[in-house]
Amino acid sequence: MTWLVTGGAGYIGAHAVKRLHAKGTNVVVFDDLSTGLVSRVPEGVPLVVGDVKDQAAVVAAIKEHGVTGVLHFAARKSVPESMKIPVEYYRDNVGGLVSIVGAIAETGVERVVFSSTAALYGLAPEEFLVEDLVVDPISVYGETKLIGERLLRFTSKTHGFSWIALRYFNVVGADSPELRDTSVGNLIPIVFRAIDRGETVQVTGGDFPTPDGSGIRDYIHIADLADAHVVAVDHLDAVAAGSVGEVYNVGTGKGSSVLEVLGAVREVTGLPVPHEVVDRRPGDPARGVAGVDKIRRDLGWTARHDLREMVADAWAAWRA
Ligand code: WQD
Repeated sequence: MTWLVTGGAGYIGAHAVKRLHAKGTNVVVFDDLSTGLVSRVPEGVPLVVGDVKDQAAVVAAIKEHGVTGVLHFAARKSVPESMKIPVEYYRDNVGGLVSIVGAIAETGVERVVFSSTAALYGLAPEEFLVEDLVVDPISVYGETKLIGERLLRFTSKTHGFSWIALRYFNVVGADSPELRDTSVGNLIPIVFRAIDRGETVQVTGGDFPTPDGSGIRDYIHIADLADAHVVAVDHLDAVAAGSVGEVYNVGTGKGSSVLEVLGAVREVTGLPVPHEVVDRRPGDPARGVAGVDKIRRDLGWTARHDLREMVADAWAAWRA
């Protein structure tokens, strides 16, 4: 089997490519290098530089490399940015997937793993967010990923391919400095940057209905997230084509509040983490924690790293 990994030079894609390549799965990276880094592509893994919206380029790569499955990471992923440039998010995230599915239909590829997101749960109040919840995204980013899941559900029936969508919760850490997330868009890199600059961390919201008033999220180690992709790829390679169409949460099932995260950063770094509580961000839910029974039951996967390990690995990658 050979897997085309779109966005494979990106933060999460590169962690998955590294593991698939190491276990002997044939992979080909397809990336426009808009945010991806060539240095993240392992020796011996072919890199095709291209735009996933260019269906002919995707078809050519599939044919040239005898691709039998597509791991589709390539997309824009910032919630606040998606609210500022929505058209670009629909064009790249939905348009990109339309092109991928068009290429799959054209070439008879029979397996897809799709990067989805917990952001599509919006303000769902449930203690554990489970895959069959009726959801109402409140960001364009989340909306583009929900559309993607529905697009796969319908087109897979017409074209007979299998697909798995993985809904990422809050991803933390990196295997190495080269693979770390270079966009300082999420809580932990924001905290590390504040430490480097001697600035005060702004805790966005202290009046949520949570034990300490700060927001609760399900933080997951990038190594666990990458492993979930390997499990999904192996599963699709093992079952008959067209027989699977599923959505899975990828999280730990455990929630951590912002103040608990700051506590873990203090423990790991040995540094004080000056912070102040400020207003909530518009649209921020109090809590977003994964229900993780389905992925464990169907794919036998569970997260293995705890918050302290995530923070320690993220700090090591940040400092290097
Ligand atoms: C985490 C917590 C904030 C910044 C994102 C997006 C999306 C998805 C999951 C991929 C919240 C608090 C934050 C700050 C703070 N990833 N915070 N001070 O919004 O939970 O979700 O990650 O699909 O990228 O949905 O992540 O890191 O922005 O916030 O107190 O300066 O940290 O209120 O409780 P979020 P985040």
